[in-house]
Amino acid sequence: VEYSFTISIEDGAVFEAERGDSIMQAALRSGIGFPYGCSSGSCCSCKYELLDGEVIDTKRGFNALSIRDRKKNRHLGCQSFPKGPALIRVRTERQYIPKYKPEKCNAVLVESKTITHDMSELMFKSDGYANFLSGQYILLSVPGIKETRAYSMSNISNNDGQWQFHVKKVKDGKFSNVLINSLSLGSEVNFDGPFGHAYVRTDNNRDVVCVAGGSGLGPMLSIVRHLANESSAKVRKVHFFFGGRRPEDMICEKYIQPFAKNFSELSIYNSVSERSKNNLDNWSGSVGFIHELVEKVLNVRAPEFEFYAAGPPAMNDSLVRLLQLKWNVPFEQIHYDSFF
Ligand SMILES: Cc1cc2nc3c(=O)[nH]c(=O)nc-3n(C[C@H](O)[C@H](O)[C@H](O)COP(=O)(O)OP(=O)(O)OC[C@H]3O[C@@H](n4cnc5c(N)ncnc54)[C@H](O)[C@@H]3O)c2cc1C
Ligand code: FES
Repeated sequence: VEYSFTISIEDGAVFEAERGDSIMQAALRSGIGFPYGCSSGSCCSCKYELLDGEVIDTKRGFNALSIRDRKKNRHLGCQSFPKGPALIRVRTERQYIPKYKPEKCNAVLVESKTITHDMSELMFKSDGYANFLSGQYILLSVPGIKETRAYSMSNISNNDGQWQFHVKKVKDGKFSNVLINSLSLGSEVNFDGPFGHAYVRTDNNRDVVCVAGGSGLGPMLSIVRHLANESSAKVRKVHFFFGGRRPEDMICEKYIQPFAKNFSELSIYNSVSERSKNNLDNWSGSVGFIHELVEKVLNVRAPEFEFYAAGPPAMNDSLVRLLQLKWNVPFEQIHYDSFF
């Protein structure tokens, strides 16, 4: 640590921000329940008011703020970095207090497997433990790029420092292309984490619904892996929904089916969203958006389930609308991350 700044929250909590830490990262590192969601400058749930002091916003963070926000000196906790001591106003909450305080570590790429035309499975190894709740993510940085990106672990917490991810290539994407194409085995990256609230809940025996879109498979796989090891698995039913664009994206069976023996019942539902002729000729399964298939399959039984979802923001928006507005699923039973 080269230097740190003292950040005070109006209600009395005080924490130190180390060099390179956003206000949000620093607060969570100190165990403070700072509100947040994506850590990526998109959901705006980390907004706070700067009462005294100076911060630097990232371009993303600045662009996400409205003119009114800027006038009121509001900033995004995940996208602003203190230039000195500061006083802020934000409503902290118990639910945001991290179970594992985020920590920084170096990790080395030890395995990289191509699994579809645009997705790879990567395994990194760090010294020490890989401590996280299934469904959580880390913020990854690579040498030479000053930004971070969120990636969700697809394995489960372990003492061997193993971190597995499913990464989807985004056209012209800075990080996804480096991770999939340029990073050679033995290369070092930096992690900060874990973060995220869409983690597995083990305080109930409710049957589970997982909805994954594209690389959302990663965190949903982590959740299934975790639940499969629980003693409650034998009485738990799992419904796993996977959405991709084309037939060649449909890789979920291979990953999820092996857990059928652990659960009282495991059902897998796949849907391809692109209605091109090629897709329709090569796919005999369901066609359409994955939330439409959820609606068809579950129908009015929805409030009985614990829901987990990960994938594109549009998928989650449609799904959450269905669950909350149409089916009245209690908010506490819906856990999701949007991959902005
Ligand atoms: C909480 C969270 C968890 C995440 N977990 C994962 C994960 O497990 N696996 C994974 O692969 N990704 C995950 N993501 C997405 C990831 O953080 C990056 O956004 C993604 O890899 C693209 O980064 P990039 O640097 O390659 O693209 P950028 O350089 O940021 O983007 C390049 C261009 O592509 C557009 N773009 C960015 N993302 C997408 C997208 N998903 N689809 C279409 N266009 C896009 C941008 O608007 C931009 O125009 C997660 C995101 C969040 C917020
Ligand atoms: S914008 Fe900061 S947590 Fe989503």
